[in-house]
Amino acid sequence: MKIAIGNDHAAVAMKQEVAAYLKELGHEVVNMGTDRAESCNYPEYGEKVANAVASGEFDCGILICGTGVGISIAANKVNGIRAAVCSDTATARLVKQHNNANIIAFGERIVGVELAKDIVKAYLTAEFEGGRHAKRIAMISDIEARN
Ligand code: RB5
Repeated sequence: MKIAIGNDHAAVAMKQEVAAYLKELGHEVVNMGTDRAESCNYPEYGEKVANAVASGEFDCGILICGTGVGISIAANKVNGIRAAVCSDTATARLVKQHNNANIIAFGERIVGVELAKDIVKAYLTAEFEGGRHAKRIAMISDIEARN
């Protein structure tokens, strides 16, 4: 898969470890995050990855900040993005199966690096189930269109 990854200053080390792991799994990874420890602003990276995914150029995105929350909120402002914060593998699998999340997010201050790797693997190997879930996702798109 072609995966866009982004992060703020709170998640440089985890981004590097997760990106290396994704490459080991055979994925193409484009780093859109910061590699510097200096304080920066997570909305910038959330938007960058969200636009890359919404454009169709990438299959999905991974966003990491301190908690995963701020950067996912930013990403979810881009039309067509369904970014989900996942701090466990069951959620990571279900956000693909039920919500067809096109971005997952997590926090370097919340999950350890081994769990982060399991989270991305659970997400990437799951498949959207469609059916009743597709109807609900269409309803989410309708909200976007109305607002
Ligand atoms: C940065 O200190 C921190 O606020 C950010 O990484 C993130 O946790 C926000 O949601």
